[in-house]
Amino acid sequence: AIKNIGVVVGSLRKGSFNKAIGNYLKENAPEGISLEIVEIGHLTLYNQDYDEGQEPEEYKPFREQIKSYDGIIFITPEYNRSIPGVLKNALDVASRPYGHSAWDEKPALVISSSISNQSGFGANHHLRQILAYLNMPTLAQPEAYIANVQEIFDEDGTLKKEDSGKFLKQVLDAYLAFAAKHA
Ligand code: FNR
Repeated sequence: AIKNIGVVVGSLRKGSFNKAIGNYLKENAPEGISLEIVEIGHLTLYNQDYDEGQEPEEYKPFREQIKSYDGIIFITPEYNRSIPGVLKNALDVASRPYGHSAWDEKPALVISSSISNQSGFGANHHLRQILAYLNMPTLAQPEAYIANVQEIFDEDGTLKKEDSGKFLKQVLDAYLAFAAKHA
């Protein structure tokens, strides 16, 4: 059964709108489902030399944390038409050592957002390419492109638009049903 979901947010910004989406989903998760925001900002930039020698001490607990989840929700901004480096670094760190990826077979959800009406499409699909390689079954429909996110959440993360909240809850429900099938 699906119980514990990790929420990986592609922005480290204190007032991040993507984090606001994550917190909203966490607070509105159905009974019996726990969503946890996963820290990624402390991860040293990955270097392949670490695979053979001394690696940063934070890597192992991070991989164990990812392994402990029944699924992963990615919520990301778009930086220069792709995913932020901090998110790519987290994906790379937990994908190693080769053959022991912590992401393997975890059902995934991708939500992208942007302060423009472009909604992070580029980031959303670059991320899907990575998840395909990492063998993470990823919800196809409904797609979640959140445009003009600053009109949906306050700077302090409070929801301003009820219909967007309703949509996000629908996406979460669809994802949980999808994840249950892949569990
Ligand atoms: C951006 N932003 C942005 N927006 C977009 O729609 N497409 C893009 O390619 C980019 N590129 C980009 C690059 C960099 C380096 C920054 C800092 C920002 C704007 C982005 O949507 C906005 O800053 C969001 O508020 C970032 O998400 P968080 O931090 O609020 O979660």
